[in-house]
Amino acid sequence: MPQTIPATLIPGDGIGPEIVEATLQVLDAVGAPFEWDRQIAGLGGVEAAGNPLPKATLDSIRRTRLALKGPLETPSGSGYRSSNVRLREEFKLYANLRPAHTIIPGGRYDNIDLVIVRENLEGLYIGHEHYIEIDGDPHAVAMATGINTRAGSRRLLEFAFEHAIATGRKKITLVHKANIMKALTGIFLETGLELYEKKYKGRIVLETIIVDACAMKLVLNPYQFDVIVTTNLFGDILSDLVAGLVGGLGMAPGANIGADAAIFEAVHGSAPDIAGKGLANPTALLLAAALMLDHVKLHDKATRVRKAIDDTLNIDNIRTGDLGGKASTSEFAKAVVSRVSAG
Ligand code: NAI
Repeated sequence: MPQTIPATLIPGDGIGPEIVEATLQVLDAVGAPFEWDRQIAGLGGVEAAGNPLPKATLDSIRRTRLALKGPLETPSGSGYRSSNVRLREEFKLYANLRPAHTIIPGGRYDNIDLVIVRENLEGLYIGHEHYIEIDGDPHAVAMATGINTRAGSRRLLEFAFEHAIATGRKKITLVHKANIMKALTGIFLETGLELYEKKYKGRIVLETIIVDACAMKLVLNPYQFDVIVTTNLFGDILSDLVAGLVGGLGMAPGANIGADAAIFEAVHGSAPDIAGKGLANPTALLLAAALMLDHVKLHDKATRVRKAIDDTLNIDNIRTGDLGGKASTSEFAKAVVSRVSAG
């Protein structure tokens, strides 16, 4: 019997169950040895257990230290706090790795090969927000506090430098807004520059750029970037922008990595507008599953999954609607499974 790897599986909300099912079929076909423990969270957790992050789900990840997760719904404006953010906090998943590769040529840009490393625990996502009531208007003033720490910045920046060097990258661009948020994002810039001088100079090139200019340059000429490292909110926004450069959210995977656990997911959300219709593109979650295979050092299987996706999209020309094709989620999955099995 080959050795199995225990892993938590959270199908998630909206299109989650459809794309997770598609991903499981491909992982089975490639012989991925995960022994899944199915758990719930998000809206599914609220509906089934009255809790967006049930204890059983947390206990499972504590045991397996490895999870594949469909998107989880979070109400906007009010309601429960994001289960995604809480999972990151609970397991100290401080680094969010979001690679973006062009898979389908002939789009907006060919040959994009970028990685965004986003700080995942600090900044404006810590949830210190409140309203102040004035003259009977309970929402007269809204306030948010952001926190970035030296230790948190250093941990993430070190991860980014090490990852970039280990994967043969040439340049890191540190993105900030220290001209305006001088303390909040200044500490990230200052820590990055110090770390570079002490530990990484000569091993890789470091550039720094303000976030607004970075957004403009990414759209005009993305080839000038290689690895981008940035704080939580900027990383969230820029990674969606970069997903747009390579064909949209259906193509963008993400890995949340910490010292004690790692959770793999698509960058996109639960897409309630297309949920249950068989329209969702499972590629982002499939690519996240490939990152998970890399994480457990099954690089050959990860490569086979990526190649099968590439061949399905570009040789078989089987694509879901977001990419201009006609295939349903399950038809696309079936085609990738055939490619994996043939390869
Ligand atoms: P979204 O990413 O779910 O959808 C944005 C647009 O992209 C929609 O038009 C959707 O149909 C399309 N889209 C997304 N994924 C797709 C796929 N795989 N194939 C084809 N089209 C796809 O963003 P939205 O609508 O802002 O958020 C919906 C919910 O998802 C919210 O509750 C939000 O909080 C949650 N969310 C969860 C995330 C996670 O679990 N990591 C990340 C982002 C949002």
